[in-house]
Amino acid sequence: MLQTAEKHNAAQTDLAFQRCINPQCGATFETLSIRTACDHCGDLLDIAYDWDRASVPSKLSDFEAMWSQRNNPVRFSGVWRFHELLPFAPQDKIVTVGEGQTLLQKADEVAKYVGMNPGQLYLQYEGMNPSGSFKDNGMCAAVTHAGMMGATRAACASTGNTSASLALYCSATRAMQAVIFIGSGKISYGKLSQALDYGALTIQIAGDFDDAMIRVKEVAQKLGIYLVNSVNPFRLEGQKTVMYRILEALRWEVPDWIVVPGGNLGNSSAFGKAFSELHQHGLIDRIPRLAIINAKGANTLYELVTDHGAKWNGGNVEMNPITAYNEAMDRDGKRADTIASAIEINRPVNLKKCLRALEVMDGVVREVDDQQILDAKSQVGAGGFGCEPASAASVAGAKLLRSEGVIAPSDRVACILTGHELKDPTATVAYHTADKELFEKTLGSRGVTTAHFANRAIPVANDLDAIIAAIENAGR
Ligand code: F0G
Repeated sequence: MLQTAEKHNAAQTDLAFQRCINPQCGATFETLSIRTACDHCGDLLDIAYDWDRASVPSKLSDFEAMWSQRNNPVRFSGVWRFHELLPFAPQDKIVTVGEGQTLLQKADEVAKYVGMNPGQLYLQYEGMNPSGSFKDNGMCAAVTHAGMMGATRAACASTGNTSASLALYCSATRAMQAVIFIGSGKISYGKLSQALDYGALTIQIAGDFDDAMIRVKEVAQKLGIYLVNSVNPFRLEGQKTVMYRILEALRWEVPDWIVVPGGNLGNSSAFGKAFSELHQHGLIDRIPRLAIINAKGANTLYELVTDHGAKWNGGNVEMNPITAYNEAMDRDGKRADTIASAIEINRPVNLKKCLRALEVMDGVVREVDDQQILDAKSQVGAGGFGCEPASAASVAGAKLLRSEGVIAPSDRVACILTGHELKDPTATVAYHTADKELFEKTLGSRGVTTAHFANRAIPVANDLDAIIAAIENAGR
């Protein structure tokens, strides 16, 4: 049985606590404290719960009862209607702007492109969130915790979507001021325009995302600003719900594969935690496999896992190869570079949690180049609702894994489309353009040689006959 709202309110904050992910340390800290790392060993933190005292439903379909409570903003939310699975905040402290009304769509045209049987490939459209990306799933949780802590300012470094999301929550709730750090020249206009329009204090530093991430941590610490990057463990609690909604859309059946683009690795980390907890509660009988797809120009995870044997190893992560890899990046001045600007990241902050997710979900990691990403993106657009470049890495990755025989044509696969089509129109227009100069400048420099599925606009004189002729000829 689900618990009542009253019981919820009384129980929450002491049900949850923060816990170091390193099993050898396992230090715990109270919910009502602000930390992005363990005080003792410096590792990342999880939100853990005293599940014995929580009221987890006995079956997932019990959550369907929440659909009938849509007049309650908490239960309207696609995140908070699963409150029992992330019970760290009392209901009256929950911040929501109606996030998580997203769709899982069967996409047979895209399935054909990927090499799957009809009916087996699904696209999870997280771009349908209020700020246009999956980030809102986690941001509502982080902003909820920030509010519980009495924060008046919240900050993040961002490739654009985290900042758009934070800026939106701050503008819509007036609860606190958003301070966002972005790399110069790296952010797409769709995302930058959101931050500016929502009134965020926008700091555009001379550097890239990895530089901005280092700086925002320093500044947040010095000025006592609440940090909402995905080192914030509360954010990842909200991101677990993307998996709950996929199960919900599949009538609580577990798919065979979850395929997700990898950047800072918050999503993959959250997905691993979601499934490991559901399994622990006995709410699912098996865990799907995870495929994390890096862009080739930002492939730290891929290289670490494939070439340097990085693994969770029950919590005994061998750090020497990882440290050596990072030092070599510094020495060589290596910078991330991909058209998928959202995942243009070389130092993923959630690396260790992600290694844990790979272990829990028997995961694999692959890399795809910008050509594969943009071709896949055009197929998502032509066979669905569209997505931004980074999101299409999931579909390109599924195609690659299919061609390797790792994914079978009969497997049931859910690709996460993390961001909305309109986030980055520059990349889309450059792909479809007939303007060779624009193509070269935007894409050619990144190794994209041919837009295999270009849908070119047809220039035509302002003349009725000419227009009709153009339409008729195009139909042939
Ligand atoms: N897809 C999109 C559209 C993103 O914006 C991001 C991350 C990712 C995928 C990668 O997800 O970090 O959980 O592995 N964007 C961050 C930002 C870094 O600042 O908006 P991840």
